[in-house]
Amino acid sequence: MRGIEAALECRREVRKGAFAAEALRKIGGAIETPDRVLASSLLYAASRRESLWKHLLGLFLRKPLHALSAETADALLVGTAGLVELRHFSPNALVSALVGHVKTGKSPHEAGLVNAVLRRVNEEAPQVLDRMGRSPDARDQCMIRGIPSWAGRRWTEDWSKEEARSLMKLSSMTPYMSLRVNRPEYESSLRQALGQAGIRAWPSPFVMNGLRLASNPFPPSLPGYAEGWLTPQTESAMMVVEAFMALLEGGPVLEMCSGRGVKSGQLLSRLPGEVPVESWELSPGRVASARSEMNRIGVAQRACFRTGDALKLEPGQPPRAILLDAPCSGSGTWKRHPESKWRLSPERLTQMAELQSALLERAFRLVQPGGVVVYCTCSLFREENEQAVGAALRGGSDVVELPLDFPDRTSVRGKPYGRVLWPGLPWTDGFYTAAFMKRS
Ligand SMILES: C[S@@+](CC[C@H](N)C(=O)[O-])C[C@H]1O[C@@H](n2cnc3c(N)ncnc32)[C@H](O)[C@@H]1O
Repeated sequence: MRGIEAALECRREVRKGAFAAEALRKIGGAIETPDRVLASSLLYAASRRESLWKHLLGLFLRKPLHALSAETADALLVGTAGLVELRHFSPNALVSALVGHVKTGKSPHEAGLVNAVLRRVNEEAPQVLDRMGRSPDARDQCMIRGIPSWAGRRWTEDWSKEEARSLMKLSSMTPYMSLRVNRPEYESSLRQALGQAGIRAWPSPFVMNGLRLASNPFPPSLPGYAEGWLTPQTESAMMVVEAFMALLEGGPVLEMCSGRGVKSGQLLSRLPGEVPVESWELSPGRVASARSEMNRIGVAQRACFRTGDALKLEPGQPPRAILLDAPCSGSGTWKRHPESKWRLSPERLTQMAELQSALLERAFRLVQPGGVVVYCTCSLFREENEQAVGAALRGGSDVVELPLDFPDRTSVRGKPYGRVLWPGLPWTDGFYTAAFMKRS
């Protein structure tokens, strides 16, 4: 498969609700590296500033985008993003490939329109973007930065003017992969093998046995991946788990929302063998992925995954420490998962905040007296962070807040609870973390 076709195939998956990274992983083996890089660049460019591309297309189309077939709309979005952002790629080659794709698809009669509109985008978009870039209008600024306008307004309410502007800018930064080394004894051979494969890797200054890359390779193609020596994980996620482990005084440990098991895997590969770790997750598909991840990294014998609702499940043993990595908007990961920002709404955010505080209240009830609860989200909205914590605390649990230990200059104080990890680097996402101890 060629890069442009692959980008369109992934775009179709993303339109149906998949994560871009997931869609790219699916086609991973069927495509050569240069084509994978092109597909990924086009796909992410299309998602990062989707509202801007729709706005530009609205200027050149005589009918609304949604009146066209979904395949044609995808070709126009991918084409507009590619023409504006991939300046090193020949515009003619891109337009011809997209027109050819529409011609052989379900709506061949729309091929001429794709050709005409994309050629206008190529000629006229730079002037429009220049005007929008200089405009003081908040909506224009949100579109230029690729932030839904309601979210831009929220950040302006939640943060100072400079912080909100910085968050918008950082949300469109190119992210790079970081790796958790599961077998520290192999770290130097791993770095050597990565170097031989042409992948530069160097140690993270923030986390133990974390490596930074200057690229985003296909994980299964990494040396040491099949052996389970490494797991792709952002540095912020690693820092949250390290801060949690620093507060532990033994187990049992419960991870209440364990997803595909990235943090459970970190706990199991770092904690001494006698500390039991139980992991709960609502989605059976994610539990299946978590189990195969535990097999890959060699900790399956110690893992205990259970499928179900964390508001209802009962732990095998009363936990001494709980990590609650709550389901959230993911607004701190928008540079890595840009497609998710267009699926969010203020109403969805409020529903999520209600679930988050209910889950945290449950964690306070379940933890042993004297035990620790760490709440985290990869969100930068206070509604899901301090406000969700505040609502849970009003439930009447007798807890005290604990200080958190993060490396210097990586976090700012929450208002009033917790700390916010700033998404300032290609290897860090925005994260919120707050820690509590239940009084004995
Ligand atoms: C932020 S993700 C967890 C990521 C995971 N901790 C990791 O590091 O791989 C939140 C997870 O909560 C799960 N979830 C949502 N509602 C839940 C519930 N009521 N009970 C248990 N899990 C839930 C979601 O399916 C999602 O996988």
